[in-house]
Amino acid sequence: MAKRERWASRIGVILAMAGNAIGLGNFLRFPVQAAQNGGGAFMIPYFVALLIFGIPLAWCEWAMGRLGGTNRHGSSPGVLGMLWKHPAAKYLGALGICLPLGVLIYYLYVESWTLSYSFFSVLWDFMGKTTMADMKSFLTDYQGVETKAGVTVMAYVFFLLTVGANYWIMSGGIAKGIERLARIGMPALLLLAVVLVARVFTLAPPDPAHPENSVVNGLGFVWNPDLASLRSAKVWLAAAGQVFFTLSVGFGSIQCYASYMRRRDDIVVTGLSSSVLNEFVEVILGASIAIPAAYVFFGHAGTVEIAKSGSFNLGFVAMPAIFQQMPGGAVFGLFWFFLLFIAGLTSSVALAQPAIAFLQDELGWSHKRSLRSVWIFLVLAGHVPILGLAAGALDEMDFWAGTIGLALFALIESIVFIWIFGAQRAWDEIHIGAEERIPRVFFYILKYVTPVALLAILIAWGWQQGADVISMKGVDPAQRAWRWAARALLLGMIATTCWLIRRAWSRKQEAGP
Ligand code: TRP
Repeated sequence: MAKRERWASRIGVILAMAGNAIGLGNFLRFPVQAAQNGGGAFMIPYFVALLIFGIPLAWCEWAMGRLGGTNRHGSSPGVLGMLWKHPAAKYLGALGICLPLGVLIYYLYVESWTLSYSFFSVLWDFMGKTTMADMKSFLTDYQGVETKAGVTVMAYVFFLLTVGANYWIMSGGIAKGIERLARIGMPALLLLAVVLVARVFTLAPPDPAHPENSVVNGLGFVWNPDLASLRSAKVWLAAAGQVFFTLSVGFGSIQCYASYMRRRDDIVVTGLSSSVLNEFVEVILGASIAIPAAYVFFGHAGTVEIAKSGSFNLGFVAMPAIFQQMPGGAVFGLFWFFLLFIAGLTSSVALAQPAIAFLQDELGWSHKRSLRSVWIFLVLAGHVPILGLAAGALDEMDFWAGTIGLALFALIESIVFIWIFGAQRAWDEIHIGAEERIPRVFFYILKYVTPVALLAILIAWGWQQGADVISMKGVDPAQRAWRWAARALLLGMIATTCWLIRRAWSRKQEAGP
């Protein structure tokens, strides 16, 4: 059997994992979530969720993955099967392949907009489009949501280019593909982000009649905490969801990357470093670009309204409109969208890797064959969020894979690792090769607080909204077909993965232990 691939260096692992976590979530999703949920009001639940879910579960995922790698298991079915010797365990792992893949199906399309908008910025295509309304119609014209086909040739071509770029990088494998991308991409991303922050911080209020629309007040909006909102369950849910999404925790993807480490490599300090890097990019850099910029140009009410009007309006409508109003806007526009493209790219390869690892490790396929199959599937499946964009197919997939699914999978993982495998064993496993010990309080957090809080969130959601969401109450009937297609796609993926898991395991039994 061929040797399993490994990361080439420790800094490479940290950068690859940081690239996995740092993505569109940091620059697009975080500012929108913060603005929708009261700005500073969002930050307290956010940091609490980071401490009780994000960081501790990330350590668990690193440990599970590194353990799986010792037995050539890079994806959750194999990992959960090692932790829990029950025939059902491996099927629970299907989620750890289908959730990242399900996110990737729509993530790729959004990533492709960042690529095309990078070109448009340079080609000065936005020329003269300084208002929100102009940029909004530019976006919908580009996407072709109002056309009969539901997509334009341009948007489709950029989607294929994005798929091609991902495929090309991944064909280099772990060290020569993903790690190399992170080594170049992460420093470039940090540089672009710092330049953009510097540009935003030196913006003067454009309208002398409204001196209160300043960068300082924009930052105040993000940072001044509002204690009253701590009573709102909705804000807590949004904060917890964002922490999972941004750290890529609860998907199965961290396990996959960690499986390419050595048994005795430290994960306590390494894991914390990449989580901290992600948080720096999210709350320091991510919070200092889009929101303060929108605040300067559109004021408090305007910023909140933009955030509430749709997930992509801040990044793809407000930001280019703002850039058009400043000297050198083409360059800053390019920096912004190319920053997003790099952030997206280092995450999309991470979203694809669990499926590829599964085909290689468990079905014994070659790297090439696994890669091709996964990417052919992605092009085909991509048509659901692309053609169903106006009907909300993308939102539907984001909700099931990127919100409910991850909470469910995080709960499953924490029960299997902490309660079935055993809390002390899990704690010892995390500390193999550790350069520092984790404060003991996290042991109790992991044992009691994390699973109980996750369960509470899921039950509260099921109780308050479950039935309405499942039955699509209030959804325009014209949209339902595409939304059902999105659900069917996700369910079909899970069923197919379970079937492949069964095949893989019966094949192994025939081959003997
Ligand atoms: N964390 C990524 C972001 O902030 C998105 C993401 C969510 C992700 N889940 C993932 C990336 C799993 C890789 C693997 O954009």
